[in-house]
Amino acid sequence: MTVDTIQPDLQSIPTPALTIDAAVVRDNIGRLSEYARRAGVGVRPHTKTHKLRHIARMQLEAGAIGLTAAKVSEAAAISDSGEDVLLAYPPIGRHRAEQLAELAKDRTVRAAVDSEAAVEMMADAALQTGATVGLLVDVNVGMDRTGVPTPADALRLAQAIDRSKGLRVDGIMIYPGHIYDPPTKQMTAIGAVNAIVEETLELWQRAGLEASIVSGGSTPTAYQSHLMPRVTEIRAGAYVFNDMNTVRCSYCAIENCAARVVATVVSDAISGQVVIDAGSKSLTRDPSSDPNAGFGYVVEFPEARISKLSEEHGQIDVSACSTRPRIGERLTVIPNHVCPCVNLHDSVWWIEANEAPREVRVDARGKVQ
Ligand SMILES: Cc1ncc(COP(=O)(O)O)c(C=O)c1O
Repeated sequence: MTVDTIQPDLQSIPTPALTIDAAVVRDNIGRLSEYARRAGVGVRPHTKTHKLRHIARMQLEAGAIGLTAAKVSEAAAISDSGEDVLLAYPPIGRHRAEQLAELAKDRTVRAAVDSEAAVEMMADAALQTGATVGLLVDVNVGMDRTGVPTPADALRLAQAIDRSKGLRVDGIMIYPGHIYDPPTKQMTAIGAVNAIVEETLELWQRAGLEASIVSGGSTPTAYQSHLMPRVTEIRAGAYVFNDMNTVRCSYCAIENCAARVVATVVSDAISGQVVIDAGSKSLTRDPSSDPNAGFGYVVEFPEARISKLSEEHGQIDVSACSTRPRIGERLTVIPNHVCPCVNLHDSVWWIEANEAPREVRVDARGKVQ
């Protein structure tokens, strides 16, 4: 899969098919794990990227200190009894809080909160089940999505958690999702994040509260974690597969992209164009960070541009290519954004060198509740 021709075995699987190159996955996991070990920071990979129990176990075997999930149904599908899982999402809504508290009966469960309502709901659910849930206060460090706005708000919320039975104050969560400059240009933004974290931890310390966990990280900032000295763990997700957005922002190379959609050319009726059987229902409509790039990268035809998607058709402009794909030919597409792409597929094809591709069910596909 790292070469630019399709392996013979992949000529026979039904398309469109999402394929995963096991060697690239192992390499991606190993590289981050080794960096994190040297930087003295834990890895708590976000499993929303791969949604596969098999890969979660690979990450844990490589030294991950626990797992991250976006939704409680994902956490249930991906984690096992005895493990440690963080819901990096507000546990608002009875179904969410109650299912999370249920999970806490046989594993370590934490959740990120940014409101007193979430604290109250989680406390009620924890009391009902008799389990203890650890909470991290989600602090906004610049993405402006979730997170309490100021360090003083973070302290108030931590004190509310501390007063609640069934809950434990474990620390803070930050998500520097607004930082996606190339690694060498992240220093100023990382400095601003550090300042918020420092101020928050100082307030907590003065109030006698301990933050044993400072959960941070993303794929774009993962290899800059040594520049965030207070961060204790990173929740990188996309790093495990990578995609065209991580390539175009200089976080990796094409060879580091493990997840690729194999598609078949089904039409060449229109001049300068071929059509593949992968549309928005296989690739997603997520745009590229490069506005001229189209809806994914065709590995065998780098000059081609996936210019339009309908649900089941991908229109590829091949006018710049010296040769053109023929009808029936198979093409490999690296998606722009791999995480939602995985969620579109019931199964993936697991590719090990010298073995036939193996179809593997995507355990947490559709687990968005
Ligand atoms: C809260 C949170 N943490 C961690 C991540 C992982 O980020 P990335 O996929 O860039 O590694 C995400 C991604 O959406 C997220 O929302």
